[in-house]
Amino acid sequence: MLVGIDTSDDAGVYQLTDDLAIVQTLDFITPIVDDPYAFGAIAAANAVSDIYAMGATPLTAMNIVGYPSDEVEPELVAEILRGGYDKLTEAGVAIIGGHTVDDPALKYGVAVTGIVHPKRIVTNAGAKVGDALVLTKPLGTGVINQGIKMERTPTEVIERAVEVMTTLNKGAAEAMVAVVVSACTDVTGFGLLGHLREMLVASGVSARVFASRVPLIDGALALAERSIVPAGTRANRRFVEPFVHWHDDVPEPLRMLLCDAQTSGGLLISVPKEKLNALMDALKERGVRWASVIGEVVDKPSAEVWVEP
Ligand code: CO
Ligand code: CO
Ligand code: CO
Repeated sequence: MLVGIDTSDDAGVYQLTDDLAIVQTLDFITPIVDDPYAFGAIAAANAVSDIYAMGATPLTAMNIVGYPSDEVEPELVAEILRGGYDKLTEAGVAIIGGHTVDDPALKYGVAVTGIVHPKRIVTNAGAKVGDALVLTKPLGTGVINQGIKMERTPTEVIERAVEVMTTLNKGAAEAMVAVVVSACTDVTGFGLLGHLREMLVASGVSARVFASRVPLIDGALALAERSIVPAGTRANRRFVEPFVHWHDDVPEPLRMLLCDAQTSGGLLISVPKEKLNALMDALKERGVRWASVIGEVVDKPSAEVWVEP
């Protein structure tokens, strides 16, 4: 076993031979948008993201479905599965099985298996002092999903969020593997600062983040400003308080978004400064249009974060 459950990494890695390891992960979610096809695609992109975050190549997947058979039409479940199938096909992943259960709460996800060379695994533990921090997708899916539940999210903002959540982290992963980076994780339920914290703890360093450089989904800040914030994001905001130093000029709604619980978020990559330009070029070449340099790794083993305006 090369990566197990003890380091809060994205996926487990098990070595088979000198030059081959398998990478495994599992994720399922409850509906976050009304469109079943989009929900299926989001759930699949979200699950396969953990394989990409390890610098690995996903190969096979198995569906996991739970739904209340007395309330939900099988056609709706078929639409969810079609969304997942199309997204996994885009990722080059073959669905080789699955399992469905009767469940009071509709849920869908996939278990994904990938491969990686044992020496090319990208864990969350390699961030080095002086590295630049790059985030490849904008934040805000948590508050936008909360706004959908409360019928407060404008249609065009929902469309933007669906586009972000259904975008695979494939191109971002290929770019970071080509350039060779220090560390990576994907940004999901613990939000940007929560997942950054895991990387900093695993790496024994601290970070400075520039709030104004963090990409946000257009329309997300307006929701946070109206306190449309999910419970998970509020919990993240409390969780980060002991190790985050907020500059006075970073307003509360923006602080909340830096903690916003993401679904199918981007990769957070720690890259040596001398390779930063190569990484940004490689991301652009692969069509990763949201990537931004959001901060840097600093020399303090306590895994603290200084958030500047
Ligand atoms: Co992850
Ligand atoms: Co995961
Ligand atoms: Co079975």
